[in-house]
Amino acid sequence: MDIHQTVSQMTLEEKAGLLSGLDFWHTKPVERLGVQSCMVSDGPHGLRKQDEKDDHLGVNDSIRAVCFPAGCATAASFDRDLLRTLGEAIGDACQHERLSVVLGPAVNIKRSPLCGRNFEYYSEDPYLAAEAAVGFIQGVQSRNVGTSVKHFAGNNQEHRRMSSNSVIDERTLREIYLPAFEAAVQRAKAWTVMCSYNRVNGVYASENRWLLTDLLRKEWGFDGYVMSDWGAVDDRVDGVAAGLDLEMPSSAGENDKLIVKAVREGRLSEELVDRSCERILTVNQRYLAHSAPETPWDKAAQHTLARGLAAECMVLLKNERGVLPINMGQKIAVIGKFAKQPRYQGGGSSHINTTQVTGAWELLGEWPNATYADGYDMETGGVDERLLAEAEAAARGADVAVVFVGLPDLYESEGYDRTHLRMPENQEKLVARVAAANPNTVVVLHNGAPLEMPWLGLVPAVLEAYLGGQAVGAATVDVLCGATNPCGRLPESFPLHLEDNPSYPWYGGEKDTVEYREGILVGYRWYDQKKMPVLFPFGHGLSYTTFRYGNLRLSAAEIQDTDELTVSVDVTNAGLVAGKEVVQLYVADRESTVLRPVRELKEFAKVFLTPGETKTVRFTLCKRAFAYWNITLHDWHVETGVFAIQIGRSSRDIVLEEEVRVLSTTALPEHVTLNSIFMDLMSDPPSAAILQPLMDKSSLNGDQDDAQGGQAAVEAISPEMQAAMFGYMPLRALLSFAGGKITYEDLSTAVEQLNRIRSVNPPR
Ligand code: BGC
Repeated sequence: MDIHQTVSQMTLEEKAGLLSGLDFWHTKPVERLGVQSCMVSDGPHGLRKQDEKDDHLGVNDSIRAVCFPAGCATAASFDRDLLRTLGEAIGDACQHERLSVVLGPAVNIKRSPLCGRNFEYYSEDPYLAAEAAVGFIQGVQSRNVGTSVKHFAGNNQEHRRMSSNSVIDERTLREIYLPAFEAAVQRAKAWTVMCSYNRVNGVYASENRWLLTDLLRKEWGFDGYVMSDWGAVDDRVDGVAAGLDLEMPSSAGENDKLIVKAVREGRLSEELVDRSCERILTVNQRYLAHSAPETPWDKAAQHTLARGLAAECMVLLKNERGVLPINMGQKIAVIGKFAKQPRYQGGGSSHINTTQVTGAWELLGEWPNATYADGYDMETGGVDERLLAEAEAAARGADVAVVFVGLPDLYESEGYDRTHLRMPENQEKLVARVAAANPNTVVVLHNGAPLEMPWLGLVPAVLEAYLGGQAVGAATVDVLCGATNPCGRLPESFPLHLEDNPSYPWYGGEKDTVEYREGILVGYRWYDQKKMPVLFPFGHGLSYTTFRYGNLRLSAAEIQDTDELTVSVDVTNAGLVAGKEVVQLYVADRESTVLRPVRELKEFAKVFLTPGETKTVRFTLCKRAFAYWNITLHDWHVETGVFAIQIGRSSRDIVLEEEVRVLSTTALPEHVTLNSIFMDLMSDPPSAAILQPLMDKSSLNGDQDDAQGGQAAVEAISPEMQAAMFGYMPLRALLSFAGGKITYEDLSTAVEQLNRIRSVNPPR
């Protein structure tokens, strides 16, 4: 189909119509021109393909599909290949079900552990979120199905999500909240983007020209279509002008009429309407040209895949005295309703009508010496003494007690936020009582976001299973018994207390205004800056084996910021079982004139090692790994200076470190005036050479020729003090301290000279 030609044959009404959905899930057809309708569907960790009924939050109407681990879990894999494999499976299912686009991945940053949708999101770290998004998108799109990276942008809470205004400064947006979208568009070439409900710096995302056109298309080169989140359109005409192509689901024709009217009245260019039509048709055509409904969707095979993926996402948080792994020969008390009915997905638009669900007890129940107790009532949440006593009795007679606890469905969902980080009281009590009855108590957690764990000191082992999808029970058993060696790492910090979280005072906002006052210090960036203890740090996760690091090498001791730096490090499996290690590379800026986090994740790799095996892991770092967003340049900038390249087991467990000096190739624009201060000029030797003679003529001690007074003054202000005080002085102040030996003319000459030499040879 010649899309340009087709659009030129459409009436204005047909074109305006094409810019909103036919119903909740389809784009409109234009039958007389052979334009076909295409279907989109949630996602992203399985299909929520609904029938034609307009119930977008209902789950009963959607087809049976395989529920894979949610974003919180897949990010914990720190495994790009795993995300790609997941994407491929979703892509196959989409092809089978004739879906042109799956609505995901959801890549918003976990600003606070309270956000109700954190279970869908990847990380508090922009680099990890970006890498996860790229893997997933590449996987789906390799099947010739589109993705819709969402929710663009600044959608980091559910509270008042359709009206709130995220007030985020430029640097914070660029460094924290945008990189995952940027990578999704630039590296993974996402076919579509879904704009968020909220406003960003005062303008609804659905009509934010800066976001949808200047940034997305002009700067990042996005060539797909932007759709609105469901019901996110405020002013449709402004939206078209700003770059919002498709309104979803639709306004039953109301907004289409407004588009037609605005074009007729000359308030909206018809060309913009045409362009939006062309973008939608281009993406649809991309799918239609290779639509392959004959693609098999083997749900049983995908269930097995879901099991394998879930096991690789789990994070072993604690394992003292080698309590884990357990084995079939042991007497095991399995405690907690979640062992039979695991919590494996969150609520809202990503909720999947699963093909089957495996609870851990289905497998553990087959073990010769296993017993089971409910432990708590999931419905009431109330403490039930009888259930606790039963659980204690079961635990007391066992070699190991495995307690399945976490957050009930109601605690975490799209549409609202949590208000605290605790588990229900009856579950916390259960852990304490079982731990008192059996020293070998293992806690398995089902939750989509961090918890406070006042009971942590009572138990030797904790396995974070997150929301692991429909095969989570089997996957948990695989990890508990060591069939899979745990290899997940936390994609987020677990704070000791909710109040420790940097966004805590401002999260949720005042009415609709949500100020991101913690700026770039999100998650571990804040905890590290404040040297605060945390429950578990970002990147933490244990294994049943141990890994040794050595031989960290950098390709150069000094580079320019336009060069690449190659980093290599040897990793050895020093234990007795095979396992996967997540090698984490952090960059720490050692000298800086702007606020930089203590360290930031800039690379990672997951490596499989058999016992005794050593592998060399190589990373390549380029400018972005050292850069911060400069608000004068409106660009990435590297300051000349020393950077540490740190290899860590987590953000708090750095095992090796080497330094590299990076030379900036970009000078910051600056203009010396009489108000420039000495400190900013004296560090540059040519500038110092101009200023020194003037400084020699002045003294902060008054008249040096007065012998008596002079001595007293030197005692009051020593030469060292004087040097330090000069630092903060503006050039003009020399007039006050040179006893008439310096004139305005001298100063203007100096300023002129400074501007001349600093523009020819700018300090970097
Ligand atoms: C959610 C989106 C979802 C859409 C369609 C909205 O409420 O925010 O993530 O894709 O509904 O179900």
